[in-house]
Amino acid sequence: MKVTVVGAGAVGASCAEYIAIKNFASEVVLLDIKEGFAEGKAMDLMQTASLNGFDTKITGITNDYSATANSDICVITSGIPRKPGMTREELIGINAGIVKTVSSSLIEHSPNTIIIVVSNPMDTMTYLVHKTTGLPKHRIIGMGGALDSARFKYRLAEALGAPISDVDGMVIGGHSDTGMVPLTRLATRNSVLVSEFLSEDRLNQVKEDTKVGGATLTKLLGTSAWYAPGAAVSGLVQAIACNQKKMFPCSVLLEGEYGLNDICIGAPVILGRNGIEKIVEIELSDAEKAHMQESSEGVRKTNGLLAL
Ligand code: 2OP
Repeated sequence: MKVTVVGAGAVGASCAEYIAIKNFASEVVLLDIKEGFAEGKAMDLMQTASLNGFDTKITGITNDYSATANSDICVITSGIPRKPGMTREELIGINAGIVKTVSSSLIEHSPNTIIIVVSNPMDTMTYLVHKTTGLPKHRIIGMGGALDSARFKYRLAEALGAPISDVDGMVIGGHSDTGMVPLTRLATRNSVLVSEFLSEDRLNQVKEDTKVGGATLTKLLGTSAWYAPGAAVSGLVQAIACNQKKMFPCSVLLEGEYGLNDICIGAPVILGRNGIEKIVEIELSDAEKAHMQESSEGVRKTNGLLAL
């Protein structure tokens, strides 16, 4: 299993690190445009192998896509991250050009690959990869929902005073401060609906804290987060590489599901060796449907800024 991660910044390096630590991939290629940067990160990570007990070979490369040839999975993290006070949507001007070039270069050398998109604005960048590469929809996956759901579980556990392993929940919709749809109605603590334990007000607070999860960290860190994004990507890569058939909310091209068409937005999917093996349609409440619709309008507005 060969995995390429494009962008050796904090998110890309974190992806490579978590993938290696989980020890399911034979090879990770880390590629960056900055001379020597990916090589340095790869060498530093390889020097953790004996300490962390992994055998994955991590190679760093400066902008030579021939080194990525025949990758089974490619992760795109390239582009600029958010600064405090910025929305993900504001990154489109710079990141769209980068993601377009990167995805074309990847496909040239790995025509059968599955692409995972991390760069922001993530739903629009996923849509752009569809338009740029023409790959079948099951081979293009946007990462946001997996990350947002992890942040949702963190906030739920905090509100419940429970360990995170007790908690389950999912965030669908767009990966943006207003677009996320945390499904508090369906979230559980050991199969019991969290509404049995938390007031409506507290649940609304969990929802709001989840939606600004990335912005909160950007304010604290001065740039966007990397540990949870890296871990979320590694979970998706592992589900595909190990044919796990796990369900994650991911940005996927919808063709009628959830009443939406010609848009990439977060919905539950089953991930296995073929990438997205199924889009799962769950029954939403009227309020959730309205939120999903509103979220899709936000994503479409950003998609409208693409020069397609
Ligand atoms: C985040 O929410 C990077 O969009 C990513 O942290």
